[in-house]
Amino acid sequence: MKNSDLSFDDFDERHSPPPETVDFDGVSRRRFLGGVGALGAGAWLGSLGVPLSASAHPDGHLSFLPVAAGDADTITLPAGYHWHVLASWGDPLWSDAPAFDDATRGTAATQARALGDNNDGMDVFVHDGRLLLAVNNEYTNRGIIFGNRPDGKPQTDDDVRKGKLAHGVSVFEIQQRRGRWRVVKDSPFNRRITPDTPMDITGPARGHALLKTAADPAATRALGTWNNCGNGRTPWGTYLACEENFNGYFSSSDPAFERTAEMKRYGVNIEDWGYGWRQVDERFDISRHPNEPNRAGYVVEIDPADPRSTPKKRTALGRFKHENAEVVIAGNRRVVVYLGDDERGEFLYRFVSSGRYRRGGDNADLLADGKLYAARFDDTGGGEWIQMTPRNTGMSRAEICVHTRLAASKVGATTMDRPEWVAANPHAPEVYCALTNNKNRGLKPNKGGDPMPVNGPNPRAENRYGQIVRLRPHRGDHARRRFAWDMFALAGNPAVHAGSPYGGSANINAANMFNSPDGMRFDSQGRLWIQTDGNYSNEGDFAGMGNNQMLLADPHSGEIRRFMVGPRECEVTGVTWSADRKTMFVGIQHPGEGGGSSRFPNGGVPRSSIIAISRDDGGVMG
Ligand code: FEO
Ligand code: CA
Ligand code: CA
Ligand code: CA
Repeated sequence: MKNSDLSFDDFDERHSPPPETVDFDGVSRRRFLGGVGALGAGAWLGSLGVPLSASAHPDGHLSFLPVAAGDADTITLPAGYHWHVLASWGDPLWSDAPAFDDATRGTAATQARALGDNNDGMDVFVHDGRLLLAVNNEYTNRGIIFGNRPDGKPQTDDDVRKGKLAHGVSVFEIQQRRGRWRVVKDSPFNRRITPDTPMDITGPARGHALLKTAADPAATRALGTWNNCGNGRTPWGTYLACEENFNGYFSSSDPAFERTAEMKRYGVNIEDWGYGWRQVDERFDISRHPNEPNRAGYVVEIDPADPRSTPKKRTALGRFKHENAEVVIAGNRRVVVYLGDDERGEFLYRFVSSGRYRRGGDNADLLADGKLYAARFDDTGGGEWIQMTPRNTGMSRAEICVHTRLAASKVGATTMDRPEWVAANPHAPEVYCALTNNKNRGLKPNKGGDPMPVNGPNPRAENRYGQIVRLRPHRGDHARRRFAWDMFALAGNPAVHAGSPYGGSANINAANMFNSPDGMRFDSQGRLWIQTDGNYSNEGDFAGMGNNQMLLADPHSGEIRRFMVGPRECEVTGVTWSADRKTMFVGIQHPGEGGGSSRFPNGGVPRSSIIAISRDDGGVMG
């Protein structure tokens, strides 16, 4: 397989394979190798998917008739709902840029003035009565963006630059007219943030030797952001873009370059994932600029209301393959941010700010300083947040913020099945974490050599379906050290694996089954929206699951219903709402990524798109 045909995870595993064995150090070999078979299957059925004692919830009911799984190349919704496209990759944000051209698929110059590709996390902000949408443009699919080239590869430097400029974040004003949403071209708030946009480095790693480069010897100003996956928003009106697979853009002009252990843990390689950025920008050459990768892998804070503002890289929130950043305010007014690291056997994290949030006060730098914790789960429903400190890691504060994965390994955090989004219930002190899947669970250690035995929140070996784990902080306070956890849903295929843990928990059935939960967000009514990024083959273990989809869960009863099915070969990612909550915006990422089977949304080149969903009766969408 070519590198570009591999998923990010499989690419990283090929180039930085995990060790084949681990030091079992306190881990029972029998348990590690025994997998789920070591546990009675009966123990799973009936005991999972049942919520802990209910907390106060408003009406969380699901009031639509669920849609069937399917493989149509369109959006399928329940009766009573309709959709249209708000914007697609390459749509111009300014009137001086041309409409998207199916034949050329754009140039670097047109891409710089247009919506980026592969929209992922997003949020709507209200500013002076205007609605501003901020959206991540995570990455590109070579076969699509360069599909006009005979071999589907970038041919010219301009092609490479076009691909680069399709990354980053897009901010633009939106407006609704006669029921349809559209981009307000030329709004003074429209902005493209790209891999070249200057950013302030903030927090403990600012100025540290690990971040110094020839172009920035002070280590205070980095260029750009890329591979922004999930997002977050703060109560003070800023947008958080989370850098995920940042490693896949670096390569080495010297094939004999010796990578450090830290580079290997983060998957920084001699070869890139097929983007070719080194060809046009030498800072992506690790043999010449070995500290450049240390300047990516952070959460970036952006003020969407000020298009001239400099985005801030928040090193205090750690460096890893960030999924999203879910912000809650704890009882003591400290800002708590839940953070997942999406790679097999990596960890779940929490940041707690040093300063306190004050409504209407100056909160601009609350994310610059705080304590960083990694989660340790026990097998019986309890867990604790372990602060990573110089004392228990042997690393400085700055080093903890740059090589966070190594620090979390040192404190014995629990290896997880690829933590994706974390979602906080606005009506109850609880957060939900999507653990998307982990084919290596029970077979191999993670990349750092930490064992990956089956364990409480990751209970199945060779986990191909994923699960959603719920955490409840002690005494309802998100800043507390201890938490309780339970399994909200174990995804599975009850038609193929009836009676086995791979059939899923009690709230999974033939009518709502799915695999690989990823995007998750609560609506204002306390209902949990779940989006999938899974296997859409509709065969074998995945028979009957169809295309990727979005489901709605009632956290009180545990009931899950399928609300939407996406077009072919897409991932459903990103969800937010208009200010009046009557429109839900949903991300359709990389339709047709496998090549050829999708023409979503317009019958031509398949294009990642943001869609708007409303009720026929004009009611609230969440
Ligand atoms: Fe970009 Fe973990 O998904
Ligand atoms: Ca994701
Ligand atoms: Ca995913
Ligand atoms: Ca994705």
